[in-house]
Amino acid sequence: MEVIRGVRVLQARADAERAAGRRVALVPTMGALHAGHLSLVELARQRADRVWLSIFVNPAQFDDPLDLARYPRVMDDDLEACRKAGVDLVFAPPAQEMYPEGADTCVEVTALAAPLCGGSRPGHFRGVTTVVAKLLSAARPQLAVFGEKDFQQLAVIRRMARDLLLDVEILGAPIVREPDGLALSSRNRNLDPEARKQARVLVAALDAAEALVAAGERDSGRLLARVREEIGQAPRALLDYAELRDPEDLGEAPARLQAPTLLALAVHMEPGPDGGERVRLIDNRVLRPG
Ligand code: PAF
Repeated sequence: MEVIRGVRVLQARADAERAAGRRVALVPTMGALHAGHLSLVELARQRADRVWLSIFVNPAQFDDPLDLARYPRVMDDDLEACRKAGVDLVFAPPAQEMYPEGADTCVEVTALAAPLCGGSRPGHFRGVTTVVAKLLSAARPQLAVFGEKDFQQLAVIRRMARDLLLDVEILGAPIVREPDGLALSSRNRNLDPEARKQARVLVAALDAAEALVAAGERDSGRLLARVREEIGQAPRALLDYAELRDPEDLGEAPARLQAPTLLALAVHMEPGPDGGERVRLIDNRVLRPG
């Protein structure tokens, strides 16, 4: 497995793969790899001749410097996981490669990036789209794979690729969960044992809403009230948002659900009485009335 740190070297590799007629899939990550990332690698492997994975903790997408400082960084473990998973090439650039001195250009999707996480993390998606545009331009893949846990991120990246006429297919991969249902996330490593236990409340809230819809409930107010009630069961979970949205354009869902509707949740798991960290977690499900 090759590890490349420079953009120019990567671009030369990309040209060589294209010249040889090989299809490259890129899995962009910020490292701290888990089984969710490996499922993206697996999907990429089925669709391409070469699987490349990038590891870059992108400072531009963190609205909170403490969050950036605490983001887990475990490069040796990540490289080992990539080797085992059969990744062909890892791109792990230093920050100056991605943001050269004087870098002054951003890529911003506006309306789609405004609600949900865009509302609670100002500038976050501008950082994501800027770095993903750079990664796509550095690796020139035919395909790039992103997880559906970050539902809005996937929608925003798809829109960016479409609007900028990028010649790349953006593929979403299903959420991978722990045995108790918690969606896998690099941030789960920062949960203390009690917060980890209570974090199950996210999937419990999604399950509760889904069960209500299956039982015939269509009223979005009552569905959201049920979700809030469920989150309220976990004293350490502070709700950031619980919203029902159109899965395509992320517009607000109507008062009565008729079509598939995204239920998106974000919570802060608060520190316990003995300290610990505040950890932000997100999850989602598309509810299907009828
Ligand atoms: O989902 C992530 O890990 C990041 O937001 C991404 C897409 C790698 C961009 O930094």
